[in-house]
Amino acid sequence: MPKIKDLLRQLAANPSPTATCEQSYQGLTKDQISALASRGCPTYTGKVRDVVAVGDELLIVHSDRLTAFDKLIGMVPYKGTILTAISEFWLEEAKKVVPTHLLSRPHERVLRTQKAVPFKVEVIVRGYLAGSMLRAYTAGERLFCGEQLPEGLKAHDRLPRPIITPTTKAAAFEHDENTSPAELIAAGVVTQAEWSDISGLALRLFAHGQQVFARVGWLLVDTKYEFGRTKDGTITVIDEIHTPDSSRLWTAATYATRVASGEGPEMLDKEIVRRYLLAQGFKGEGPVPVVPAKTLVELAEVYLRVAETLIGRPLSSEAGSQDIPILDLC
Ligand SMILES: Nc1ncnc2c1ncn2[C@@H]1O[C@H](COP(=O)(O)OP(=O)(O)O)[C@@H](O)[C@H]1O
Ligand SMILES: [Mg+2]
Repeated sequence: MPKIKDLLRQLAANPSPTATCEQSYQGLTKDQISALASRGCPTYTGKVRDVVAVGDELLIVHSDRLTAFDKLIGMVPYKGTILTAISEFWLEEAKKVVPTHLLSRPHERVLRTQKAVPFKVEVIVRGYLAGSMLRAYTAGERLFCGEQLPEGLKAHDRLPRPIITPTTKAAAFEHDENTSPAELIAAGVVTQAEWSDISGLALRLFAHGQQVFARVGWLLVDTKYEFGRTKDGTITVIDEIHTPDSSRLWTAATYATRVASGEGPEMLDKEIVRRYLLAQGFKGEGPVPVVPAKTLVELAEVYLRVAETLIGRPLSSEAGSQDIPILDLC
């Protein structure tokens, strides 16, 4: 089976939009979706993944779609396979600390999971001042999603303790809005008791994630979790965890010196694409600029580095951009 590293090296040697697109997997086809529907297996098309309900289980199909600022940006070759491997690693690893929905991985791009009724909240845990919270802090805000932030923090500083800054969970391609635990409870999204369980699970997961990333020299800066209730009533972590699509990751070794010099930390997530888009004046509104094939391949290489470092062996891809034999899996 060809190593993804070699496949990406070939693309990087002569990056062209046609080649990167042809080697990318777009997601389930319309024909597959209608065949699934006629078998009684409804499909939900998310931003990045297509989810097929099969009885009490879900098949989560990872496409190579890349989103940023809640918009579809382009195709990143092999990203789906790489993300499936990272999600599988973490959902298995996290079983040491919390229940997770993972059952198995029947295909390089597919995870079989236990269906849950999702809580309509994105549970964001932050260990550092970064991203939208940094922008709000710089603008003078000190109360962020119900959390009182201390005075005197500088950009990219570690917070005194990890905090939870929830957002609402909007439909695919709509923007999530900041909220607070009090608002979520008042709106009936979660009960007080559910929030206390969910926030406890989120902080345990985050502490464990930070420990495991620390072993490979990375900082888990912030991340997003989703939780759901399974048929037997258990609150379990669902979706993906600690992937570069759902988290910020920085290099630990250079963190202190780079932050002190004002350069900002070295990032191992989709920041290279976000920066390219911002440089083109794109912040999520209006037409999406075309991201060069070279940048998309570079991003695939970043994701691969994260996956192979965590998993400890090279990843291969047999299926490439071929359609997934989804009907055989359900
Ligand atoms: N075990 C589960 N039970 C129910 N829903 C799930 C489960 N795991 C993941 N999901 C949902 O599957 C979708 C995954 O696809 P994604 O591309 O992330 O979609 P979205 O655009 O909604 O974020 C998410 O909406 C997520 O909430
Ligand atoms: Mg999602």
